[in-house]
Amino acid sequence: MSTAPRILAFAGSARQESWNKKLIAIAAAGARDAGAEVTLIDLRDYPIPIYDGDDESEHGMPVQAQALRKLMLSHQGLLLASPEYNGSIPPLLKNVIDWISRPVSGQPGPSPYSGKVATLMSASPGGFGGLRGLVHVRAILGNLGMIVLPEQLAIGSAHEAFAADGSMHNAKQQSAVAELGAGQARLLAKLLGVTLSTDCSERRHDPSRLR
Ligand SMILES: Cc1cc2nc3c(=O)[nH]c(=O)nc-3n(C[C@H](O)[C@H](O)[C@H](O)COP(=O)(O)O)c2cc1C
Repeated sequence: MSTAPRILAFAGSARQESWNKKLIAIAAAGARDAGAEVTLIDLRDYPIPIYDGDDESEHGMPVQAQALRKLMLSHQGLLLASPEYNGSIPPLLKNVIDWISRPVSGQPGPSPYSGKVATLMSASPGGFGGLRGLVHVRAILGNLGMIVLPEQLAIGSAHEAFAADGSMHNAKQQSAVAELGAGQARLLAKLLGVTLSTDCSERRHDPSRLR
């Protein structure tokens, strides 16, 4: 069995042409190239209703939220690219974070967040690149016990930053994003006391198995 660090990666946007999805794909590739085992998912594949305590009491945690919770539990790191909505965290992402913070079937279990390492990034057509939203995402994940690394990137003018194939026009910027992923992979390897080898392949979670 592989001892490579396991990193979950996703964007806090379900939009098909999301800039943050393009951004997270580059960071995920950077982590994979550095030797991590990366699971890149799309939140569009995990539709979850807005959290409602009555709904939870009646029906429990939706299967898609349970699947995300299991993914968080089975990875040591998180790469997250989040858009900024009105200077803060988008509701899609907050809803996902909230649902998977809940115990399954009312049974207290291990926290899916505690002690995990997170790296944040954002992209936005605006000048700040979503930087203000990351302040809030950082605080929320920190409150949940995650170690949120100080290195982060906010890509402004995102509508001009990416080529049609998903790469970035600015090669230096692309390397910096890939390095965010690689940096987390190296840190996790140190924390886990394992040596990185660079023959790991990307794992994609198949959400169709939930249905
Ligand atoms: C409700 C709403 C609020 C937004 N607020 C901000 C904002 O405060 N700052 C910003 O830079 N962009 C803001 N935007 C624009 C988003 O950055 C833009 O829609 C971006 O493309 C979303 O990320 P995505 O491409 O990954 O889906 C907002 C968009 C929406 C829908």
